[in-house]
Amino acid sequence: MQGSANLNVMVKAARRAGRSLVKDFREVENLQVAVKGPGDFVTRADLAAENIIREELTNARPSYGWLGEETGEVAGKDPTRRWIVDPLDGTTNFLHGLPHWSVSIALEHKGEIVAGVVFDAAKDEMFVAEKGAGAWMNDRRIRVSGRRNLHEALFATGVPFGSKRTLPATMQDLAALMPQCAGMRRWGAASLDLAYVAAGRFDGYWEREINAHDVAAGMVIVREAGGLVESLHGGDRVFEKGSLIAANGEIFGRFASVLRERA
Ligand code: IPD
Repeated sequence: MQGSANLNVMVKAARRAGRSLVKDFREVENLQVAVKGPGDFVTRADLAAENIIREELTNARPSYGWLGEETGEVAGKDPTRRWIVDPLDGTTNFLHGLPHWSVSIALEHKGEIVAGVVFDAAKDEMFVAEKGAGAWMNDRRIRVSGRRNLHEALFATGVPFGSKRTLPATMQDLAALMPQCAGMRRWGAASLDLAYVAAGRFDGYWEREINAHDVAAGMVIVREAGGLVESLHGGDRVFEKGSLIAANGEIFGRFASVLRERA
């Protein structure tokens, strides 16, 4: 794909952060046996990746704003553009030595996500999209699946952990959907769940109260792959409501109506 200058900057930043994370990931596997465990180490790896991305993006576009998972929000001179970054989505997987995590970088312009990069460095899969230019994985064009029936569909979600108040509603979602579909996956990295919907690996994904930095890049990748992304409560203002549904256009209506019974 012949990307814009902005997309090239995003890809370069994702690759540099990915290289640093892959090195740290090998170390995490050794730390699993240590008494103190790998928790602090992973926090440092996460921060180091965010610093790398921030340095790359800020050097290239000093006027843009910033919203990063670890360092929070910083207003830019240009109030119309900001980067939305999760340096390590799938932190729990990373911590447990599971090779399913990503670097996620989005560019927002006037409130709309116009470009996104989700880099699965452990599998060397780079998902990218820009508004109007389609969605790509390692230079191959990707499309959402064409499955029309719920009973053939494979869905993904994020199940809340700890004391998150969305647990009961999510359990009800699962109880309603599971008897009607081909399977359900909870793989622990929202950005990759969306990238997999874009690539037709999953037919749909939803999650209640998800953070913007986890899903911003994946949203534009799904849309550019021909899929639909809406707030669980209707409309496309996903960040305001914080819960989203994404799916291929064939199945979206039925999938969404099952979930919206509890919206
Ligand atoms: C988490 C993952 C997970 C989702 C959680 C997110 P993190 O992000 O994307 O799949 O279910 O809601 O917080 O903490 O690994 O960056």
